[in-house]
Amino acid sequence: MQSPDLTRLGPWNERPAAQQPDWADHPAYREACRTLASAPPLATGVEIRHLRGALSNLNATGGLLLQAGDCAESLYECAPRHTAEKLRVLNALGDRLSELTGREVVRVGRMGGQFAKPRSQPVERFGGLDIPSFRGHLVNSEIATEGTREADPRRMPWAYRASERVHLAIRESRRADGAAASGKGPWSSHEALVIDYESRLLRADPDTGNLYLSSTHLPWVGERTRRPGDAHVALLSAITNPVGCKIGPAADPDDVRRVCEALDPRREPGRLVLIPRLGRDEVVEELPRLVRLVADAGHPVIWLCDPMHGNTVRSRLGLKTRRLADVIIEALRFRDILERHRQHAAGIHLEVAADDVTECVGGPVGEEDLPRHYTTLCDPRLNAEQATELIEAWAKGTSPGP
Ligand code: PEP
Ligand code: CO
Repeated sequence: MQSPDLTRLGPWNERPAAQQPDWADHPAYREACRTLASAPPLATGVEIRHLRGALSNLNATGGLLLQAGDCAESLYECAPRHTAEKLRVLNALGDRLSELTGREVVRVGRMGGQFAKPRSQPVERFGGLDIPSFRGHLVNSEIATEGTREADPRRMPWAYRASERVHLAIRESRRADGAAASGKGPWSSHEALVIDYESRLLRADPDTGNLYLSSTHLPWVGERTRRPGDAHVALLSAITNPVGCKIGPAADPDDVRRVCEALDPRREPGRLVLIPRLGRDEVVEELPRLVRLVADAGHPVIWLCDPMHGNTVRSRLGLKTRRLADVIIEALRFRDILERHRQHAAGIHLEVAADDVTECVGGPVGEEDLPRHYTTLCDPRLNAEQATELIEAWAKGTSPGP
């Protein structure tokens, strides 16, 4: 059993941390933290080393990475049948990408822990009242009343148990595919956002003694929490997992340099997945600068395109949506720019639902269809048909239109 003291050694609990829940001295807080600190790892050190090994070869071999899943996972959708559906969609997309490109595709789900969301506004207006924003099922409920939006620390062990079920199902599918030995099969990932939760799931790898984050295989730090001196970056700096970092269009070059230095000080292939999410138009201006800056600093990063988060708009009916056409254009521009800079465009990071949602406009979904099956807890997701169209465009390298 790991010593809970591990979780108190690091600086992350003392550094500034944006986007944290206000647990407001909830009486269950200490017990929830204790439960997590003594719980078995969800992702194991051996698995994390496998994934890191697979990622370390991508740039040299031209292999690809596909990261996809819900914007916000639901605690009510973590039964084996839910996970099986999500893995089926992820694998179908990965297989299609592999078939069209002739490349191996490492598959990573936004799953088994994607329960916490950063929000631009701390409150939202609802029925004439300002109530706290939904912050993901790890923190509060999506149901819009003041009481149900209070942060409840008992949700942390609840999320842990749901993640445990998802990780068991992912592990089982890897075993069934016989993929464990070859390093194939899907892996888990989520935004490491809630420091109380993540820091209690740090563990020492029994084989190497190294510290790793046992809540997921591939944690990432989001656009709103990637400040170099802050808690989230300190936490991800201290672990041996491969780590991701989102980069938005307003990123300060110096911050990018510092966050890369913090997360990848030894310039190791397979360590840092850089995930620009710039927007269809901004990608043209911003990405070349970013690529040169990172290359000059000598980080052998994995360049992963998130064509979703820079392209969110409001539909005429007021629903948050994204246009598949914009998403495809950003992805193809990303690939072209990377190639022009003689860097490997390693793949795409998507928000995709396992069922046939109508949240993004494009392909079979017109703007008037959006309300028909709009079930996301947070950002609009592609359905499998739309995601397949994107993957086919990426693989064929169809030139971006106007
Ligand atoms: C997300 O991936 O859902 C997200 C919030 O991304 P970003 O940090 O890039 O805004
Ligand atoms: Co999102």
